[in-house]
Amino acid sequence: MCIIMGTLLDYIQYRFFAKSRHGIHSPFVYEFVEKYLYQEIESSIYQPIENIRVALLKDKRQIEFEDFGAGSKKIRTAKPSVKNLAKNSLKPKKYAKLIAQLAQYIQAENIIELGTSLGTTTLYISALNPKAKIYTLEGSPELAKIAQKQFDKLNARNINLIVGNFDQKLPDLLNRIPKPDLYFIDGNHTYEATIRYFKLALKHSNGNTLFIFDDINWSDGMKKAWSEIKSHPQVSISMDFFYLGVVSINPNYSKEDFVIRY
Ligand SMILES: C[S@@+](CC[C@H](N)C(=O)[O-])C[C@H]1O[C@@H](n2cnc3c(N)ncnc32)[C@H](O)[C@@H]1O
Repeated sequence: MCIIMGTLLDYIQYRFFAKSRHGIHSPFVYEFVEKYLYQEIESSIYQPIENIRVALLKDKRQIEFEDFGAGSKKIRTAKPSVKNLAKNSLKPKKYAKLIAQLAQYIQAENIIELGTSLGTTTLYISALNPKAKIYTLEGSPELAKIAQKQFDKLNARNINLIVGNFDQKLPDLLNRIPKPDLYFIDGNHTYEATIRYFKLALKHSNGNTLFIFDDINWSDGMKKAWSEIKSHPQVSISMDFFYLGVVSINPNYSKEDFVIRY
């Protein structure tokens, strides 16, 4: 996840405005930053997942890959290698940890990830939230097959992998599970799709649900989507980690935007 030219200025701006825990007055945000964000997790938790990442980064197999979403700026072939996908699609440990810790912080019981890819972030969420039920959706059957193998390797039984287009699978899923406590929206990074998934997710949420959006600075469309989501009347707190944006709809919190150094 290197900073590409178009976003360099945005990143400089982010670093300039971002606050560490000292500038944060919301108890909800402060407690997360203090107790989780800047704390390392045990190596017995992350090492098995990082070993899987290392193996995927060496895997030269080429797979059929039909992108159902906005595509990638780096994967330009219909038959990418697993190592190419592992290098360019997966969240690095730092952000996978952040997502999993947010789930831990709010004691999420039901979690949805849109976009499994090879499953390493799903494994972080699973490892730090063993009691939660995790539903992860992936459109590419070949990718999903490889992800499922990694889940089986680590015996991650709380992960339910659903293969198919979000547009068909998500509404079905939301009608048969309790309202999720956490959404991680990490696929189909267009303005239109992001807003559409957010509106659908909002209808299936409780007061404590958190929504995490990946790549909020990836394109003008994503920047526009993030700006609209932050100012949505139901959103109270927003947290900008540059690569990820997080919003809460808890009405007990006053409306505030935080840019958090990470
Ligand atoms: C960036 S990757 C996910 C990375 C993963 N969440 C992580 O943190 O490592 C996005 C994935 O979403 C999938 N995807 C994008 N749009 C989709 C759609 N409309 N339906 C199903 N899958 C989709 C792609 O196939 C891709 O594997």
